[in-house]
Amino acid sequence: MPETLVTIAYLAAGILFIFSLGGLSAQESARRGNVFGMAGMLIAVLFTAFGPRVESYTVLTGALVVGGAIGALLAARVEMTSMPQLVAILHSFVGAAAVLVGLATALDHSQMLDGVERTIHEVEIVVGIFVGAVTFTGSVIAYGKLQGTIRSKPMLLPGRHAINLGAILACVYLGWMFISVDDPFPSIGPLLACTVIASLIGIHLVMAIGGADMPVVVSMLNSYSGWAAAAAGFMLKNDLLIITGALVGSSGAILSYIMCHAMNRSFLSVILGGFGADEGAAPAGGAAAQPAGAVKSVSADETAELLRDAKSVVVVPGYGMAVAQAQYPLFEVTKILRDQGANVRFAIHPVAGRLPGHMNVLLAEAKVPYDIVLEMEEINDDFPETAVVLVIGANDIVNPGALDDPSSPIYGMPILEVWKAKTCIVMKRGMASGYAGVDNPLFYKDNTRMLFGDAKKMIDAVLTALK
Ligand code: TAP
Repeated sequence: MPETLVTIAYLAAGILFIFSLGGLSAQESARRGNVFGMAGMLIAVLFTAFGPRVESYTVLTGALVVGGAIGALLAARVEMTSMPQLVAILHSFVGAAAVLVGLATALDHSQMLDGVERTIHEVEIVVGIFVGAVTFTGSVIAYGKLQGTIRSKPMLLPGRHAINLGAILACVYLGWMFISVDDPFPSIGPLLACTVIASLIGIHLVMAIGGADMPVVVSMLNSYSGWAAAAAGFMLKNDLLIITGALVGSSGAILSYIMCHAMNRSFLSVILGGFGADEGAAPAGGAAAQPAGAVKSVSADETAELLRDAKSVVVVPGYGMAVAQAQYPLFEVTKILRDQGANVRFAIHPVAGRLPGHMNVLLAEAKVPYDIVLEMEEINDDFPETAVVLVIGANDIVNPGALDDPSSPIYGMPILEVWKAKTCIVMKRGMASGYAGVDNPLFYKDNTRMLFGDAKKMIDAVLTALK
């Protein structure tokens, strides 16, 4: 296949990836966005495989079959709630690939470059290896923390910022050693040393971040993996890899910014690492996690009664709804209430559940219409005019301590102000804390009623009572 045809195909794939990202930015068009992305990737793989650069189909077919089978098996088996771990480990593969491409390119003596061209090529190698190694080990640690195999508590070494800075400077020096040698094929010794130090930076950066802040870290690593892929694209002179890497890198950075905003974190402190480990903050599960008073419980029948009388209802889903898979009976309840003339809407916090868009996906699965699913900013002002709020398996995202308790680890995170409604019903199994490990003063408020039990069982009971 001629090179020009491959270039045209890459351009088409790049455009499809841009359409894909555009589609994924809204719930209504997300399915279409995925189709664009899959079409772009199919074009990219086919035209690369049949392009002029591939020499051995045995190796390519072997890699495609083994890699494809592992990917398909993992994706089919993964629970929705374990998706962040899967995403983290996939990022680590991109990082490892960039390191290997960098080392292989440095060892490839087949093309002879001179002057500026050689310097640029060697800078690409150093940058690709550095970003790739940080992404690789950082993602493996993020995976371990999310999976629970590594303690989620932040590891704070004394002078950690100085250690990071020193390590980065060492990598710059080693990179300069590799580039400045007046030899078309310099020794890869400095590159190997740079790989080891960058790998330690990745471990140290992510080890210093607490479990509650991992969502932003995974999104940042997503961005890093994009830049690592773009660097690999430069090394391999593959335009599509550069475009795709830049798209992933920038969209990951934008998503991280949006998440930082939603969790009231500073973008810069995420990039530098060690954030969420504020020495002044109470540790998760510490003083702020102690119970603070008595709660009032309510039955499923009483909940149905309150809902039947309500003209406006807001449902706040959280991680517990995902665990219980309560979205299907919940939509049945919604339909009954809407048929009775109530205004029923869903309020989605940007970090509800365990991955961006988690609640939107579950509600879409249950066929909840998109127009009654609202973002936090769209609905937060409406709570004072709401008769009943149903909080289903959510905890941190409705914790008033985030607004008024400076000792809380989630202090400053914007939340859904559900207690402003006339009645707030919280559905959960017991008094356990949420992801951040802090007690929730919402449960003890005068207008809060606790409906204890598994979310699905409780919604089923409410549905039966409503019918
Ligand atoms: P959480 O604060 O984690 O609270 C979930 C609550 O659900 C728990 O308190 C639990 O209490 C209850 N629950 C668990 N299983 C249940 C079941 N079967 N039935 C009923 N209730 C059940 O969830 P959230 O409010 O959605 O907040 C999300 C948290 O995760 C935030 O801290 C966020 O920063 C973090 N996080 C978010 C993401 C993204 S990107 N969304 C990624 C990683 C982490 P009981 O055990 O008492 O039932």
